[in-house]
Amino acid sequence: MSRGFTQLDANGRLRHLITLDDVPRPVLVELLDRAQGYLSPAGSLPPRGEDLAGWTVANLFAEPSTRTRASFELAAVRLGADTINLDVMLSSRAKGESIIDTIYTLQEMQVNVFVIRDAEAGIHEYVARHVGPGVSVISGGEAHLSHPTQGLLDALTIRQCMGGFDGLVVTIAGDVRRSRVARSAHRALSTLGVAEIRIVAPPVMMPDAAEFAGARRVGSLDDGIAGADVVMMLRIQRERATGAGATDLVDYHQNYGLTAARLGRASPRAIVMHPGPMNRGVEITSDVADGPQSMIRRQVANGVAVRMAVLAHFAAARGRPA
Ligand code: CP
Repeated sequence: MSRGFTQLDANGRLRHLITLDDVPRPVLVELLDRAQGYLSPAGSLPPRGEDLAGWTVANLFAEPSTRTRASFELAAVRLGADTINLDVMLSSRAKGESIIDTIYTLQEMQVNVFVIRDAEAGIHEYVARHVGPGVSVISGGEAHLSHPTQGLLDALTIRQCMGGFDGLVVTIAGDVRRSRVARSAHRALSTLGVAEIRIVAPPVMMPDAAEFAGARRVGSLDDGIAGADVVMMLRIQRERATGAGATDLVDYHQNYGLTAARLGRASPRAIVMHPGPMNRGVEITSDVADGPQSMIRRQVANGVAVRMAVLAHFAAARGRPA
């Protein structure tokens, strides 16, 4: 975020959630605890609440999404809010309307929270600087930079499976350079005290040296996975590739695909994670994705709970709209 802008209010609570960069550990823990409370046993009805009664949440997604968009809508509805889902490419922005005019238009319809996914870096902060005093902005994904609720749901999944963060070795492998998921996971897990984060990628997918402070960089997946407690796989972000040439997927799978044999090098209690969408047979094989160590479906369930927690945090911080 740029100088002079903070997403925290005067009480240290979230006014917006655009990045996890400056979110203090107690707030992260509070969000994880809240999210845990929004999980119900398999087969039972999902928890509901009235925390957002009278609120309106607008999803403005300018990039494809299944998990984030659906879970934000479910989270808002389950907490009693009205929702709007605007397909940005089919909105009046396609006729030249600026994002701020779209925001001002929806604000007049008494929208309280904007959930925005956009490929343009900085647009979330720009919108947050322009919204009215009682209105919040949540990032549902910003370029390659940030996906804060994904970072939270990844942390929640790890905490559930491992009982905490102390002493863990977490390996994040794949197209780390272009991954907002990796950046938010790294930030959340660093703040929460994970002992060792390894990033594994071929040279063209390795982030610049200035990024991922404190992480160990490993070129080989076999080496990077050895002894890991958590193995987080990432897909190749082809939609963000620029002029680097096509990746040979067979070759990539050979060197960077997670197979059952490779997973055998990790800790025996290791869990496998993937934010989705997966490219089966490229970065992960189906037997691993659907196997007993996979927490990929649990991540999806946690996604709804985390988004409920974030929305409820806003409601608790601000109170109901007049
Ligand atoms: N993990 C994630 O952001 O998935 P979607 O693109 O489906 O929202």
